[in-house]
Amino acid sequence: MRRNRTERAEYGDFQTPQKLAETVCRLLAESVPYAATIIEPTCGVGNFLFAALKSFPGAQRAIGADINPQYIAKARQRAELESQPIELVQADFFAAEWPRTLLDCAEPILVVGNPPWVTNTHLSKLGSDNTPQKSNESGLSGYEAISGKSNFDISEWMLVRLLDWLNGRNAVLAMLCKTTVARKVLAYAWRSGIQLQSASMRLFDAQESFGVSVDACLLVCTLAPGSCCDTCAVFPSLSERNAASKIGYQDGNLVADVDKYMRWRGLSGPELYRWRSGVKHDCSAVMELRPLGSIYINGLHEKVEIEPDCLFPLFKSSDIANGRIVKPKRYVLVTQTKVGEDTRAIERFAPKTWSYLQTHASRLDSRRSTIYAKQPRFAVFGIGDYSFAPWKVAVSGLYKRLAFHVIPSFEGKPSMLDDTCYFLSCDSEEEAAYLKSLLDSDPAREFYSSFLFPDSKRPVTVDLLRRLDLLALAHILGSEAQLVDFLQRRETGGKYGTEPSALQPVLFG
Ligand SMILES: C[S@@+](CC[C@H](N)C(=O)[O-])C[C@H]1O[C@@H](n2cnc3c(N)ncnc32)[C@H](O)[C@@H]1O
Repeated sequence: MRRNRTERAEYGDFQTPQKLAETVCRLLAESVPYAATIIEPTCGVGNFLFAALKSFPGAQRAIGADINPQYIAKARQRAELESQPIELVQADFFAAEWPRTLLDCAEPILVVGNPPWVTNTHLSKLGSDNTPQKSNESGLSGYEAISGKSNFDISEWMLVRLLDWLNGRNAVLAMLCKTTVARKVLAYAWRSGIQLQSASMRLFDAQESFGVSVDACLLVCTLAPGSCCDTCAVFPSLSERNAASKIGYQDGNLVADVDKYMRWRGLSGPELYRWRSGVKHDCSAVMELRPLGSIYINGLHEKVEIEPDCLFPLFKSSDIANGRIVKPKRYVLVTQTKVGEDTRAIERFAPKTWSYLQTHASRLDSRRSTIYAKQPRFAVFGIGDYSFAPWKVAVSGLYKRLAFHVIPSFEGKPSMLDDTCYFLSCDSEEEAAYLKSLLDSDPAREFYSSFLFPDSKRPVTVDLLRRLDLLALAHILGSEAQLVDFLQRRETGGKYGTEPSALQPVLFG
């Protein structure tokens, strides 16, 4: 079975260079004194198996499996040549009887290797069925059912299953995988009480070894009956002796830096000011306009002359991340004051705007997201009284840096953020500046950074922002009274109020 590019992608087929396999196995032998059984469930041509037998010469048994019969044939040839008694079988991981095989294996068991690096979403695009779902005959559902996730890495599913099967045994699971996969596997182990004795992640250059640009590591999980370890040392390279950080599972959260988190865990608490996302419309060509003198130009390069009532200054993620909070370059059409509001009133108080929306109705009606399906025509999302606050403190969710900015109103109109931004709404400049100073403080930065994995695509999420208790922070910074004062003023009703009806004049003049 010679594989073309698509097939290689389908099977996550990147054979580990012999040298890398040997480096990994030598490293393992430094901390694992003995392995009775060596297993590679997706062994390819067997480079890891041969390397493991070199580093663990006392092993009683070695088993290798791969879905590709040609690889198994090649590995058998090499085993014969090198007189290595390896049991090599052609087997699909998703269909093989690994739990039964493992029961017969002498301990300590070393499961080592490099499972396929491919997501089920990518496989479904390729029309491939190399996924766990096909093991459904037994009533067992796929990983989606275990994890509630619809997009996952095939390797993640394999590693999680292996941990389940090895739980309660004396075993070491040592696998090359993406760092994101390693963290998900560890989170699974910690949440589900897998008896881990220790865990480590050692980063390596996947570009150099496999020609793929992705953050990757050697994940090593040592299991022993009755053990419980909820941290994982992270080493910057395969050779580095000192860990750079320690990730872990604390208070129900995956934490990127356990020491930092322990220092600032007192800042975890309720969300006093609610973090919100910006306005969502999914039709920038029609809904976003650039000012040109007294008129506007839309994304279709059309001149647009409409009433100002529904138009608001718009700042996007790139503006927020780069601190470009000057004269607005864009305006957004906000057709509602709250989600679900009837939009037909626009025809009455802003007829030109209504006619503009009607002219482009086909684009708006064909927005792909199903969220618009049962909503009034031209509806938007991420809208409520909070959107019309005169001041905001915003951060972009598209960038890795936590840069908070104060967003003012312009010409009496509250500024809107796009739906990739998160913000707190404020009544006054003083309140916004104060909240920004809290968020920019060293304790807040350290607290947030204890959760930030630099290799995450989008580490800044609303879940992250919501974890910080501003009152606890104000307390340690000695400004609790100021915060309480702002909170009390909000209680008694700020300028923009809390009642959506009070926003009508702000929005519609
Ligand atoms: C990243 S390669 C690594 C190969 C080998 N472990 C190594 O380190 O050189 C992944 C391997 O998984 C195999 N594979 C893919 N899907 C599989 C499945 N469902 N069952 C068993 N092996 C599979 C591929 O044929 C390929 O050899």
